Order: sequence, then structure tokens, then C-alpha cells
Amino acid sequence: MSFEGVTVVGHPLVQHKLTIMRKKDTSTKGFRALLKEISLLLAYEATRELELTTTTIETPLTEMEAPTLAGKKLVFAPILRAGMGLLEGMLELVPSARVAHVGLYRDPKTLVAVEYYFKAPEDLSDRMVIVLDPMLATANSASAAIERLKEAGAKNLRFVCLLAAPEGIQRLRAAHPDVPIFTAAVDDRLNDHGYIVPGLGDAGDRMYGTK
Ligand code: PRP
Ligand code: URA
Repeated sequence: MSFEGVTVVGHPLVQHKLTIMRKKDTSTKGFRALLKEISLLLAYEATRELELTTTTIETPLTEMEAPTLAGKKLVFAPILRAGMGLLEGMLELVPSARVAHVGLYRDPKTLVAVEYYFKAPEDLSDRMVIVLDPMLATANSASAAIERLKEAGAKNLRFVCLLAAPEGIQRLRAAHPDVPIFTAAVDDRLNDHGYIVPGLGDAGDRMYGTK
């Protein structure tokens, strides 16, 4: 199954680690560690199109024009809570990145995303913004977060997740066709409660041991 605008990161290390995360007996500690490890590999894919310029440097042997990142620092935008699990690894890879926190929870009955917090750098319009959330289920949360970031000025966005449901991909692509999606896997479907099947359960609860 392939979808336009969606990159599935099929790297063997990602796939192996994801399988361990899916297992119901994997500990909270293990789950968090694996999410961080996978986030580094997802970050390489999502940042592939960062622009480069050159700068003059001196190696021990000679002067050279060497590649360096161009433009303003990028912004990571984790959707709270579970998006924080992808943030830590990505900040290790890009320590100078800015962070926009988007606080949303999914109402368990209606599955509608409810905003409770938003804090972003002011100059979003000049920066690549990478939205982070391990789960793309109905896409209510991802769509609301992207809408909010666009209202705040973001123009160049990516969405990075660990697992996506086909329904969520279709809805997010329809709502925000300008936002490419990066995921480690596309699962079969959503169940009647809006959970991804086979999935890995509730990402926030598994990360923080709240159930
Ligand atoms: C989970 C997950 C996503 C959302 C995905 O968050 O982390 O944000 O559900 O579902 P959707 O695509 O149907 O919107 P949740 O609302 O459980 O909050 P939490 O991260 O605080 O646990
Ligand atoms: N949120 C989760 O954490 N897991 C799902 O399967 C769906 C939404």
C-alpha cells in the first residue's frame, strides 16, 4: 500500500525496534528508549530537504568551501503528551532547533482534539516546522495541530509519526495536502474506539506508565 506524500521509513533498524515497541510486555523504560532511538532515524528522513549553503573553512591541509545548513533553525513541534517521546532524540540530532509545544488531547467519546496549551517561537514563517506525534489515527490531533501552527505563521511543515492508519493518512492529506508525512509503518485500520490495529496501544500511556 503506498500513499502520495507519505514516506514509509523501512530501515531494518526502525522495523526491528518498532516490533519490540508493539509487544504488550515491553516495559515503559524499554518503550521510551526505543522511541528515542527510532526518532533519530526518522529525523534523518524528515530533514532530507533542509537547504545547504557553503562556508569557507580550513582543514589541517587546506582551505575549502564546505557545506553547512542554510537559513533559520528548524522547529520541532511535539503534540503533547506522546510527541515528547520523539522530541528528545531529534534535539540530540539538531541541538539548536527551536521547539513549539502543542497541547492537545483526544476526547475519548467524540475523538475530537481539544487544545489545552500552545507556545511557539514567533518567526515560524521563516522556518521548517516538523510536527511530532507517534500516532496518526483519525488525524484529528495532527490536523488541529497543523491548523494551529499555520495560524501562527508556519508555511513549511512536515508531519512525523511512528504508526499511521490508512484513514488518518487520507484525512490528513485531504486537510493539509502541502504537508508530507513520514512514518515507520502504515497499519491495517482503526477499531471502533479510534485505536490503530494492530498498533501498539495508547502511546502516551505506554510511554509514561499511566495505565
Ligand atoms: C494520542 C496520540 C495522538 C492522538 C492520535 O494522544 O498521541 O496525539 O492520540 O489520535 P488521532 O489521530 O485520532 O487524533 P492522546 O489524545 O491519547 O493524548 P496523550 O498523548 O496525552 O496521551
Ligand atoms: N492514540 C494512541 O495512542 N494510539 C492509538 O492507537 C490511537 C490513538
